[in-house]
Amino acid sequence: MVIAENVVLRDNDPRLPEFQSRGWRIVARSWAAELNAVDVDTERLTALIECLRGERVVREPEISDKAAILTLDAATVADYPGGIATLHDALGPEQATVSSTRRGFGVTGPDGGLVAMTFVDIYGTKVETDFTVVAREWRRQGLATAVKAASVLALLSEHAESFRTGGSDENIASLAANTSVGYTLDEVWSTLTPPAP
Ligand SMILES: CC(C)(COP(=O)(O)OP(=O)(O)OC[C@H]1O[C@@H](n2cnc3c(N)ncnc32)[C@H](O)[C@@H]1OP(=O)(O)O)[C@@H](O)C(=O)NCCC(=O)NCCS
Repeated sequence: MVIAENVVLRDNDPRLPEFQSRGWRIVARSWAAELNAVDVDTERLTALIECLRGERVVREPEISDKAAILTLDAATVADYPGGIATLHDALGPEQATVSSTRRGFGVTGPDGGLVAMTFVDIYGTKVETDFTVVAREWRRQGLATAVKAASVLALLSEHAESFRTGGSDENIASLAANTSVGYTLDEVWSTLTPPAP
């Protein structure tokens, strides 16, 4: 895959050492992970949601939540680490609209405002996470883990067979949240940049 002048290659791609021997440098690394329906630990995922205390409510955003989705996205769009392979572009109204093939799972705080969300795209029985984000002041409280757990549980009950996700290897929190939910890493990618002319 070539993005702008950079090249993104899987770590087992034989072209990777060739590029490096020609002076291309690895500037970012990313990963992909999968969770199969048969491997989902529903009790564990339920516990990850139920451990949220206080007035934090996990729920599916609706079409009427579009403004809240766009507000949370705009406030956090600069927070995604990594390189070009894990970029998150600001959502437009279309991407913030939930549908049968684009579902969201969120957490609302005590005033009812959206403080965390994950969005997934659905291709038949396959589910692909688009992004997950938590408002800055709400991080490190298990919200990302809870929304990801909620997405898996809800879609499992609607007969999803496999769940995929990914991220930057700089993003320790994202990796930890996904591991907690049961995802297993199965791909590692390197983004290479060419030598200076
Ligand atoms: C990544 C992000 C969604 C994590 O949200 P969060 O609600 O803070 O995550 P959680 O509280 O569920 O924590 C998940 C795990 O990461 C760990 N963690 C959270 N923040 C961490 C940090 N800054 N450094 C190290 N570990 C961290 C937690 O301890 C937890 O680990 P555990 O399961 O072993 O206990 C949040 O930091 C964020 O919105 N970042 C910007 C957007 C982004 O990068 N999204 C992911 C790519 S799509």
